[in-house]
Amino acid sequence: MKKDLISIKDLSSQEINEVFSLTDKLKKSRDCPRRGLSLGFKNDFSKALKGKTLALIFQKPSNRTRVSFEVGMYQLGGNSIYLSPGEINLGVRESIKDAAKTLSRFIDAIVLRTFEHKDCLEMAKVSDAPVINGLSDFSHPCQALADLYTIKEKFSRPSGIPQKAGKSLKNITLAYVGDGNNVCNSLLFTCAKLGVNMNVGAPKGYEPEETVLKYSQELAGKNGASIKLFNNAFDAVSGADVIYTDVWVSMGQEEEANIRKEIFKDFQVNLDLVKSANKNALIMHCLPAHRGEEITDDVIDSKNSIVFDQAENRLHVEKAVLIKLLGS
Ligand code: CP
Repeated sequence: MKKDLISIKDLSSQEINEVFSLTDKLKKSRDCPRRGLSLGFKNDFSKALKGKTLALIFQKPSNRTRVSFEVGMYQLGGNSIYLSPGEINLGVRESIKDAAKTLSRFIDAIVLRTFEHKDCLEMAKVSDAPVINGLSDFSHPCQALADLYTIKEKFSRPSGIPQKAGKSLKNITLAYVGDGNNVCNSLLFTCAKLGVNMNVGAPKGYEPEETVLKYSQELAGKNGASIKLFNNAFDAVSGADVIYTDVWVSMGQEEEANIRKEIFKDFQVNLDLVKSANKNALIMHCLPAHRGEEITDDVIDSKNSIVFDQAENRLHVEKAVLIKLLGS
């Protein structure tokens, strides 16, 4: 039976940990091109998806999601086809059902970046090929998987950031500061499944959905962690090992830009806020960043910022997801 990746809520903690284990192997098996060398590890994944094709249907712009999936398919011996908004024009030129049924005759999986989460759910329901959510208004599962993988990596690798070595995911506190959006929802699900403490600091009226928060708080409790909501950024980062933020104005919210910038101004991740967290707290951002709005240059460019490691891990984690969903 085919399996999709639409929301982290649908994954078990075991499945998440399996993705992380495979990501470790993938990262070791092929030193990334930037570093130049192949280290000759015994696992060779270069033909893992030979003959397989991934369709990327994107209704919004993208750097990380598109490029990491395309490069990932290439590195696994497969192929990808990018379909921009004008090409399929989902729901206008062609229904989601007809597009999915047709594509399923040609390709092996679909990454869908869409405005409305219901489109992802419908695509997954009608497609014969696995569907991966490449961002919807509710969820960004690939981002959250890469984020928690990055945190795990930073806190467990002795050669990483020294003061962090030895802490496991179970005794880390992640503070998410800003809009209770799709990224926040996916982080909540992932932290709850893995037993990671999470604080959310969001203005009143911009908190994550009540149902997501309640579900995550209950599950986190069962997994020995706590998830707390604050309407103040300083309270949210108190005791945090990691501070995470995202843009205040997401794609499609441009008309609300001025009002949002006013509402979120006390939720900026700046040096004052960082000083209120644990010493040497790591800084994360899913990118793209609006420098000078939700995060200042001196924080995103600081020595404790791991935003580009986080971005790189999109590639490694998504390769693991692709193998899990498409590998024979
Ligand atoms: N973080 C993220 O999804 O980046 P893109 O919008 O560039 O894909």
